[in-house]
Amino acid sequence: MGQGVLSSGFARVDGTLSCEGVPLDRIAADVGTPTYVYSAAMVRDRYTRLDEALAPLEHRIHYTLKANSNAGVLRVLRELGAGVDVVSGGELFRARKAGFEGKDIVFGGVGKTEHELREALEARVMLVNAESEAEVRTLDRIAGELGVVAPVGLRVNPEVTVDSSHRYIKTGEKGAKFGIPFDQVAAAAAAAATLPHVELVGLDMHIGSQLFRLDPYLDGVDRLVGLLEQLRAAGVNTVRYLDIGGGLGVSYDDEETPDLHRFARALVSRVQPTGLTLLMEPGRFVVGNSGMLLTRVLYRKFSGGRHFLVTDAGMTELIRPSHYDAYHRIEPVAAPSGHMTADVVGPVCESGDFLALDRELPEANPGDLLAVHDVGAYGYVMASNYNTRPRGAEVLVDGDRYAVVTARERYEDLVHLELDHPEWRKG
Ligand code: LLP
Repeated sequence: MGQGVLSSGFARVDGTLSCEGVPLDRIAADVGTPTYVYSAAMVRDRYTRLDEALAPLEHRIHYTLKANSNAGVLRVLRELGAGVDVVSGGELFRARKAGFEGKDIVFGGVGKTEHELREALEARVMLVNAESEAEVRTLDRIAGELGVVAPVGLRVNPEVTVDSSHRYIKTGEKGAKFGIPFDQVAAAAAAAATLPHVELVGLDMHIGSQLFRLDPYLDGVDRLVGLLEQLRAAGVNTVRYLDIGGGLGVSYDDEETPDLHRFARALVSRVQPTGLTLLMEPGRFVVGNSGMLLTRVLYRKFSGGRHFLVTDAGMTELIRPSHYDAYHRIEPVAAPSGHMTADVVGPVCESGDFLALDRELPEANPGDLLAVHDVGAYGYVMASNYNTRPRGAEVLVDGDRYAVVTARERYEDLVHLELDHPEWRKG
């Protein structure tokens, strides 16, 4: 198999859609549907491309668990030397279980509980990105109780204009709930500099997701570098990290993705003179294109002048089409033939339960296996059990081998926390 096939992860081999060296129909026959299939080669390829582009700068890539926190995927990334970015106690737990040590972990998130902050400090994470002065003060108190000094970054809202594909995934514009409003950062930094149990080691931003234009990033970096200069002028010389978040866009249709080398060159000229280590927190860029969702067509119907393909996956497996109007390419796993226009819909009792509307695709019929493209990021992690549907399996392919890395849920898994005979307590 050629390198082209490997780095693109998915390709047709003798007409059948395959992931690296494994035909997808074989996985569906073995594991059932719906199933998410990830290409390890593609994850490696994406990570390495970004790492190489950033090579001229002192940098660290902290893969963002929220995009895909599967243990198999995390293992691939850990082997490449990646760090991680986590936003909850649950993600911290997963990261450590996957072998990441505190020094590899950035802890962020807009509403961390005291319990989570304590867990982060106990794990000796390399950086806690705080989103308010109040959070910095809470962190100082907890660090004092634990007898440690917390390495803190300030997540700044740089208040730039962001070009994301959907308003729900913009975060760095004025008035967002995220980060410290730009005009309050200096005060938060001054407070951090005087507190005994925190050390201000980072400035951070994350402006949004699925971004294609580089200038909002660069405007944001300029604003952070301006802040750094102000802090240094005020005698604060502890900052070592400049964390520019995630957000790099990927192609779902035929979008032109950002030129990594141009991006890196623009970053070098801004960040190198500061002497800081650049941190990036990519999620979608690393895993987005590396996953496919396998689903079986259950029924085909014709209603109100439209064709419907009812599949065994829907909004419970991939919420992106209904939640963000997102486009995901869909094609049959077997050699395509014919042509139809259809709504591809799931089995859930909601009209918003669809994978595609009014979509032109090859002819498909009950029993056919379909592949929904580019579900590696924000696919399984956003799945739900609505309608008491067990979550599907996750499979990792590496060369000509594949392994189930998350088993399909069973009915028992869905009810095991419920109590049939509740123990009543007196109010
Ligand atoms: N860092 C922070 C602080 C974040 O909030 C996020 C994503 C990332 C990094 C990674 O962003 P990425 O490189 O993946 O764009 N569910 C949505 C996307 C939500 C993104 C949330 N934050 C979707 O399916 O499009």
